[in-house]
Amino acid sequence: MATLLHIDSSPLYGRSVSRQLTGAFVAQWKLSHRDGTVIHRDLNATAISPITAEWAEAAYTPEEGRTSQQKELLAVSDVLLAELEQADEYVIGVPMHNFGVPSVLKLWIDQIARVGRTFSYGSGAPKGLLTGKKATFIIATGGIYDAQTQMSSFNFVEPYLRSVFGFLGVTDATFLTTGGTAALNQGQDRDAFLAPHLQAVQSHAQAI
Ligand SMILES: Cc1cc2nc3c(=O)[nH]c(=O)nc-3n(C[C@H](O)[C@H](O)[C@H](O)COP(=O)(O)O)c2cc1C
Repeated sequence: MATLLHIDSSPLYGRSVSRQLTGAFVAQWKLSHRDGTVIHRDLNATAISPITAEWAEAAYTPEEGRTSQQKELLAVSDVLLAELEQADEYVIGVPMHNFGVPSVLKLWIDQIARVGRTFSYGSGAPKGLLTGKKATFIIATGGIYDAQTQMSSFNFVEPYLRSVFGFLGVTDATFLTTGGTAALNQGQDRDAFLAPHLQAVQSHAQAI
């Protein structure tokens, strides 16, 4: 039975483009996985603390040597990691904020990049431990950052996500980007604007 982990990170909820598109992905996915399970992790409704020195020390202490206080410090991370490990597929909604990923998504990444759980340095070289997973990143950006445009070097969203998830072992990753959403604030019709992006997301969800 397939399990999909659905992650959202836009604070805009009903007005969010990435949330609308991840919602369409999930609806399509459910149609082709009638017995599947969906786990929804809303990062704007999840309290995640920034990394502290004590957290880092706990994460680098071998499991069998951790104190109960260290185990407590890693409790949120353990819950988030269990969701990632349980799922076979991920769909992650990502609004561009200040040319990068939103802070709630970065806080989550800091919790799930864990030595011995999602990566190891066993043989000297780093090894990703989240293998056999398929990820779809649904990105929304106010401007346009296509490869041939003047602004392409300002896009730290896709290169960052590709690198960090690749490092963790998730190499089967698809990036679907809706650029130019600022037009929606300038009177562009939302349904007409989103139609081709909804189509692309639904086709991809059907194909995987
Ligand atoms: C705090 C904040 C920062 C933003 N920074 C950028 C930016 O650096 N570049 C850009 O093109 N758009 C930027 N935007 C616009 C968003 O990328 C755009 O509204 C996109 O649709 C967000 O996805 P969402 O609709 O799912 O929230 C920003 C929006 C917010 C709220």
